[in-house]
Amino acid sequence: MKGSGTIADNPFGGRHPTSHERLTRLPWDASYQDGPAPWDIGQPQPAIVRVASEGGFTGAVLDAGCGTGENALHVASLGLSVLGVDVAETALAIARQKSDDRGIEVEFAAVDAFQLERLGRTFGTVMDCGLFHTFDGDERPGYVASLASVTEHDGTLYLLCFSDDPDTGPHPITQEELRVAFNPGTGWNVAAIEPDRIQTRYHDNGAPAWFATIKRL
Ligand SMILES: C[S@@+](CC[C@H](N)C(=O)[O-])C[C@H]1O[C@@H](n2cnc3c(N)ncnc32)[C@H](O)[C@@H]1O
Repeated sequence: MKGSGTIADNPFGGRHPTSHERLTRLPWDASYQDGPAPWDIGQPQPAIVRVASEGGFTGAVLDAGCGTGENALHVASLGLSVLGVDVAETALAIARQKSDDRGIEVEFAAVDAFQLERLGRTFGTVMDCGLFHTFDGDERPGYVASLASVTEHDGTLYLLCFSDDPDTGPHPITQEELRVAFNPGTGWNVAAIEPDRIQTRYHDNGAPAWFATIKRL
């Protein structure tokens, strides 16, 4: 029935499809409907585990583009309050099931990362594992502003993305692109960009990545 509001009728949930969705002609949710997606490794990214073990997460935590929630669940298991947001309802359902099964309290919500201000909440720490690199240059300013709207003054954004190494994944990002997106003019200061790895289901030792620590002004 037209206008019934099902995913089949309205695959993008009324959102403007992202560049990745326009390229693949599929909503993000489709990535989760036929077994684990390439990035869905069933455990947190080692970079997040390392920073969390160093006490790098403080205050309320937001996981932007949380997928099936492994990173959010890991940080929450350390006793922090965590909200994971994603546009893929199937991923969120899997994340909520993990939360129940493991007895780890995490809030998972269907929220567009371009509209985070609608949350009406702010966070001391935000993480982005593999979301920024899916956005093209035209989308980045809106996403960066959306992140800024919910990150507390002096709060920290940890961003893990594919690097521009030739052996990296499908969305290579240069350090310069990170610095263009996050700078004092957009409300941020890049504190560090370190070479790292993103683990995937298809790389034995992960793909070359940047791990950026970015402070909200
Ligand atoms: C490469 S996956 C990474 C997922 C997760 N962070 C992980 O490490 O497994 C990117 C995620 O961002 C989500 N995403 C894409 N565009 C989004 C948007 N505009 N708002 C919220 N989530 C989005 C996708 O549905 C997908 O789950």
